[in-house]
Amino acid sequence: MKTLTITRPDDCHLHVRNGAILKTVLPHTARQFARAIIMPNLKPPVTTVAQALAYRNEILQAIPEGVNFTPLMTLYLTAATTLEEIKRAAECEHVYAFKLYPAGATTNSDAGVADVTKIYPLLAALEKYDLPLLIHGEVTDEDCDIFDRERVFIERYLIDIVKNFPALRIVLEHATTKEAVEFVTSASNKIAATITPQHLLFNRNAILAGGIKPHYYCLPILKRETHRQALINAAISGNPKFFLGTDSAPHLTHLKENACGCAGCYSAFAALELYAQAFEQANSLDKLEGFASFYGADFYGLPRNVEKVTLEKTDWTVPASYDKITPLKSTEILYWKMV
Ligand code: NCD
Ligand code: ZN
Repeated sequence: MKTLTITRPDDCHLHVRNGAILKTVLPHTARQFARAIIMPNLKPPVTTVAQALAYRNEILQAIPEGVNFTPLMTLYLTAATTLEEIKRAAECEHVYAFKLYPAGATTNSDAGVADVTKIYPLLAALEKYDLPLLIHGEVTDEDCDIFDRERVFIERYLIDIVKNFPALRIVLEHATTKEAVEFVTSASNKIAATITPQHLLFNRNAILAGGIKPHYYCLPILKRETHRQALINAAISGNPKFFLGTDSAPHLTHLKENACGCAGCYSAFAALELYAQAFEQANSLDKLEGFASFYGADFYGLPRNVEKVTLEKTDWTVPASYDKITPLKSTEILYWKMV
């Protein structure tokens, strides 16, 4: 049987929620990944080091016995974030970054930043302490077409942020467009991007052709095929600016299969298998290890993992649900399986 063994990967963009959902989803991630950058968009958002440490403890409780997994915490940046809190975060060994959500851009982003230019003093502090800024890069204007929101964010805000804070490490999270790939590729080595499995595997037809498919709806929304091709080329390029971040974002099935369905795809149950499928389709399985296991760790200044994981080329059917959460590709066949 064909197998693929790589260094145990890290997930550089993950939503695990809290409470009951956390207990369902965290074991899926902990089985595959050694570490994950944990998104802070809880209700209420994780805005202080004290909240991040409490959330970290809740996550640690959900790790199955005998499994080695480290959550890497982030704080939610708001217009009310103080310079003292940034200093505390910089001094805390468990906090790895701040996350910037434009207000209203996505799930639980109401507390986000309405005017990015108003928080420049906070970005200066992040730059000073060398704390990475993770960006949900979409504008929120009602009159901006949803398929253009990432490109316009780059043009209107990101170019200026990069110019004003040349030493600030930035991750453009879940890059979804050719323009994002081009921007990150041509920027300095302080600028990187994560790429999700769904944006490598699907274009917008997956949501909209042949009936509306809410389980393929996430933000930023899937784009047209030319953009998917650009993302594939970035992921298999061996360029260390592009690395794995699943953006696995569980929502209960009834809240996605809804007249106003939530944004987010649940992929943690088979994240590595989904990426393997995308890399194999592009004849580039040999590039998966750098993307999944090396470049993210290098960007965050973490030691690379030493353990290995093995995938087997074997068909299996994705369950219809995991505790009321419908997984990506539910009831469909995947071609790789982690051993
Ligand atoms: C994420 C969520 O549900 O928290 N949803 C999504 O569609 N990706 C938030 C986010 O990362 O935008
Ligand atoms: Zn996300």
